[in-house]
Amino acid sequence: MAFRKIRIPRQVAQLVGPVVRHPTLARRYVDTDEVSGQLQFEILKRHGCVPSSRVLEVGCGCLHAGRQLIGYLDADHYVGIDPNAWLVQTALGEPHVAQLVTEKRARFLHVDTFDASSLGVAFDYVLSHSVLSHCAHCQLDQFLTGVEKVLAPGGRILASIYLAEGNAFGSAPAPNQEDSMDEEWQYPGISRFKLATVEAAAGRHGLRALTVPEYTAFIVATRPRECHDWMVFERP
Ligand SMILES: C[S@@+](CC[C@H](N)C(=O)[O-])C[C@H]1O[C@@H](n2cnc3c(N)ncnc32)[C@H](O)[C@@H]1O
Repeated sequence: MAFRKIRIPRQVAQLVGPVVRHPTLARRYVDTDEVSGQLQFEILKRHGCVPSSRVLEVGCGCLHAGRQLIGYLDADHYVGIDPNAWLVQTALGEPHVAQLVTEKRARFLHVDTFDASSLGVAFDYVLSHSVLSHCAHCQLDQFLTGVEKVLAPGGRILASIYLAEGNAFGSAPAPNQEDSMDEEWQYPGISRFKLATVEAAAGRHGLRALTVPEYTAFIVATRPRECHDWMVFERP
């Protein structure tokens, strides 16, 4: 079936309420699925996430990982951020997802600042899959500013990214292995950051950055195409 993209003026959208589109459109947009979400969820659990953990998902899309997390976590313990509200609304069009979200009182913010501090919650984990891998160069610092602000003591940020050096799992190195220095969000294209750039940015925000190739190995064992580098940011 072919879908035609119709641009709706903001004022009209506000009058008619949330935009729910066909789930296939949302899946195509985020280019992941429930299996990818399950793998992300497994990584978070391997990293120590338990039902009582508070989790912020940055770039939650149509809740491919979110629906697993919301089911697993205690009520009130999941917050998702995504500037594309239609992706979340489309997921909420699936009755079982809507029921989970209601029962577990999951919350969503539709901002592009990576900032959830308005909620006054400190998070034990931040999960962000396939967001830094599309960010403009300046958004790496914005991301770290936003998420560091809401990180609980001992909290961890797990994020996927494409390192400019490439990796042994199929991610090709960038030309000259340099930062791609993109001025805007790249989508569906990708951006790349040198490991040294990421480490320096983490340092500016009082964090240290570690690569975790085991998590890439874990993902590509099921999804050979999803060869993002995985990084953990934590306070030293
Ligand atoms: C490739 S999709 C990945 C979605 C989801 N993490 C997944 O694995 O299915 C990238 C997501 O980042 C979201 N995004 C774009 N700019 C963002 C921003 N400034 N802050 C948070 N999310 C953003 C997009 O709307 C989209 O949902």
